[in-house]
Amino acid sequence: MSKIILTGDRPTGKLHLGHYVGSLKRRVELQNSGEFDKIFIMIADAQALTDNFDNPDKIRDNIIEVALDYLSVGLDPAKANIFIQSAVTELTELTFYYANLVTVSRLERNPTVKAEIQMRNFETSIPVGFFTYPISQASDITAFKATTVPVGEDQLPMIEQTREIVRKFNGTYNADVLVEPEALIPQNSVCCRLPGTDGKAKMSKSLGNCIYLSDPADVVKQKVMSMFTDPDHIQISDPGKIEGNAVFTYLDAFATDEDFAEFLPEYKNLDEMKEHYQKGGLGDVKCKKLLLNVINKELEPVRARRAQFEKDIPAVYDILRKGTEVAQAEAAKTLAEVKNAMRINYFDDAALIQGQQDKYNK
Ligand code: TRP
Repeated sequence: MSKIILTGDRPTGKLHLGHYVGSLKRRVELQNSGEFDKIFIMIADAQALTDNFDNPDKIRDNIIEVALDYLSVGLDPAKANIFIQSAVTELTELTFYYANLVTVSRLERNPTVKAEIQMRNFETSIPVGFFTYPISQASDITAFKATTVPVGEDQLPMIEQTREIVRKFNGTYNADVLVEPEALIPQNSVCCRLPGTDGKAKMSKSLGNCIYLSDPADVVKQKVMSMFTDPDHIQISDPGKIEGNAVFTYLDAFATDEDFAEFLPEYKNLDEMKEHYQKGGLGDVKCKKLLLNVINKELEPVRARRAQFEKDIPAVYDILRKGTEVAQAEAAKTLAEVKNAMRINYFDDAALIQGQQDKYNK
């Protein structure tokens, strides 16, 4: 069986370091591993509209931001098809049919959707489109017969829902059409959820605590130097806390032993540095300077690639157009198989037409 990746992001803003350690970096590694037969990376604009239907320009403007972020981290259109969800209309059609296989109570139990409903104060008036987006996500995944879906932990309920739909579909229609996908989540727990620069649980645009992939070096510097550390670590000689200290959480996510050799050779590795910090005698500024070096080392090539792509925006839209064409052809094949299994392929079934004629000839 071929190994196929599908994953994607809602284009509601520029991508940040949380996206980078949580998924983008891994995607590029998977892309370059040569282990996958096909890779589809989707800009999930239709899903983004399920809770931004009244703000279409936000989604429209962020398509190019997300595309530039993808290309600048090293996703390569020659290896990974980048496409726009809404332009593959087959996905919507699949969603309508899959909706028959899912109950309202099953959707109500989806923990991620539950949390999002609360966050958006949707409790008393949940848009149906939003409520049912896990079904649409199952279409995104199954249309490409994806075997592997690299995502953050919060997406596990969507993958589980998809697997249920696949089993129900193949069982109900006695068909071997859809493929059960596996989620691929970050191995490293820090990478599951990078906190904001203010130490809050999550990077979020509305909290203004993100470091964006597209931030220039001086902006990253200002953000890192004002990061949340340990509020009780006042004098350099004071013992410092690592837990809940955003600088150390980021170092956990980014710093390698080679980084220490390059930027701060007085420590062999992060453990040694942490020990010193906890004992007292290591100042925040020194830690932040190391982090700044480490982040900039990671972001330099990203910035350089972005600058190239920014020079020719029409070419980026062309990449998306071509990727979308490939994706659409693929989704159309699956949709045809789905309709065939569901017995709604009337016009390309000569035996059906003849059979109905025979009935009347009797
Ligand atoms: N729900 C994902 C997010 O919020 C985006 C997404 C839409 C997705 N369709 C998908 C991810 C299919 C993986 C597979 O980031």
